[in-house]
Amino acid sequence: MDPRKTKEIICFCNNVPRHEIEKAISEGANSMNKIFDATTAGVGACGGSCRRKLAPMLEHYLTTGTFPEKIIPDTTGKKKYKGEKT
Ligand code: FES
Repeated sequence: MDPRKTKEIICFCNNVPRHEIEKAISEGANSMNKIFDATTAGVGACGGSCRRKLAPMLEHYLTTGTFPEKIIPDTTGKKKYKGEKT
């Protein structure tokens, strides 16, 4: 993967880069809550707008064992993810 992409900031509130999120997921953060705890991404002042990127990353990893080259944000707002409050 292009090294510039791993430095891409996913959570702007808490300044969390993509590589930190990928590391947490690959080390066992298999739910949104675990990603929040491990990285602080998704729990910033904005209320979690980056979750629409975190969720597809997690879902892709849990399905394929790899991370997507390009993150396609979930803009539907309808999906609920494991570890996310309903
Ligand atoms: S951008 Fe991640 S919580 Fe605001």
